[in-house]
Amino acid sequence: METSWHALCHEAEFPDDGKLATQLGGWSVLVVKGDDGFHAVNDRCTHQAALLSPGRVRRGAIMCPLHGARFEVGTGRCIGGAYADLRRFDVRVVDGVIEVAIPVVAPGPNERPVGAR
Ligand code: FES
Repeated sequence: METSWHALCHEAEFPDDGKLATQLGGWSVLVVKGDDGFHAVNDRCTHQAALLSPGRVRRGAIMCPLHGARFEVGTGRCIGGAYADLRRFDVRVVDGVIEVAIPVVAPGPNERPVGAR
């Protein structure tokens, strides 16, 4: 899928709690800072489409606040495999600015979290 790079923020501006949720190119994007760098996923649980970003991040995984599914942010993998993996977005840092590769096509209904515009 064709993507384009979108600037997120400067590394120094990244929130201290290690996660940042935003809208880029019509997508709901969750960026998490891990020990191995930044990772970005679609901010939508693959179970019932809840926003993942209010969930807690521990040991490189985010827990869905609705029913507790956990997803590795580095791979998008659903731990335990109960649900589909998350869509991942590539991340890079250019001159200190975090950039995320977002599909040029807007998300379809099955890619949007509940409550997203
Ligand atoms: S909506 Fe995320 S675990 Fe159910």
